[in-house]
Amino acid sequence: MAGLFITLEGGDGSGKSTQSALLAQWLVSEGHTVVHSREPGGTDLGLELREIILHSRGHIVPRAEALLYAADRAHNVATVVRPAMDRGEIVIQDRYLDSSVAYQGAGRVLDGSEVRDLSLWAAEGLLPDLTVLLDLGVAESRARLDADEKVFDRLESEKAEFHDRVRTSFLALAAAEPDRFLVLDAARAIDELAEAIRVRVATLL
Ligand code: TMP
Repeated sequence: MAGLFITLEGGDGSGKSTQSALLAQWLVSEGHTVVHSREPGGTDLGLELREIILHSRGHIVPRAEALLYAADRAHNVATVVRPAMDRGEIVIQDRYLDSSVAYQGAGRVLDGSEVRDLSLWAAEGLLPDLTVLLDLGVAESRARLDADEKVFDRLESEKAEFHDRVRTSFLALAAAEPDRFLVLDAARAIDELAEAIRVRVATLL
């Protein structure tokens, strides 16, 4: 079988890592080889970039931020995603280029299509076979992050209006590419969401 590339997108606290772990578990139990990655931070270089992007104290201008995410993406795609797909494996990844369009495009108010083109250049044109968008209202997302009691990173600390623009952008991206996206209400129960994702992924196997 040719490899498969599945990404999970959504605001902070929408449950992406929980759902990607459950999906990976199920695929492995079905006999598939799964590579689980994330952006930023799916590689050693990516972990260093993640630290800079999310925890750097000084200001980072939006274009520099977009380029840092693109650098992480270029390295992750070339060294993790493509090789796994070439081996016929399934890559499940938390966040990909749609996050750049939503956060750097809509959030930081850069041109969304330029940000997308930058990402596609970085990734040599690779688009996911399926993108699961876990959609959650900004207030609910904030409540979940508050409950975690962790220190907010640079993006999480942004105002509600920023996160509203991000959410609207994700939904617009999904509406523009309905075949690639599965949009789910992230407020639903974990098991129900996992089942809906499995049903859709099963159609691709
Ligand atoms: P994470 O905590 O979900 O791993 O993501 C880290 C943060 O990085 C999250 O707030 C979203 C943000 N982000 C972007 O702004 N642009 C991107 O291209 C990616 C991949 C993440």
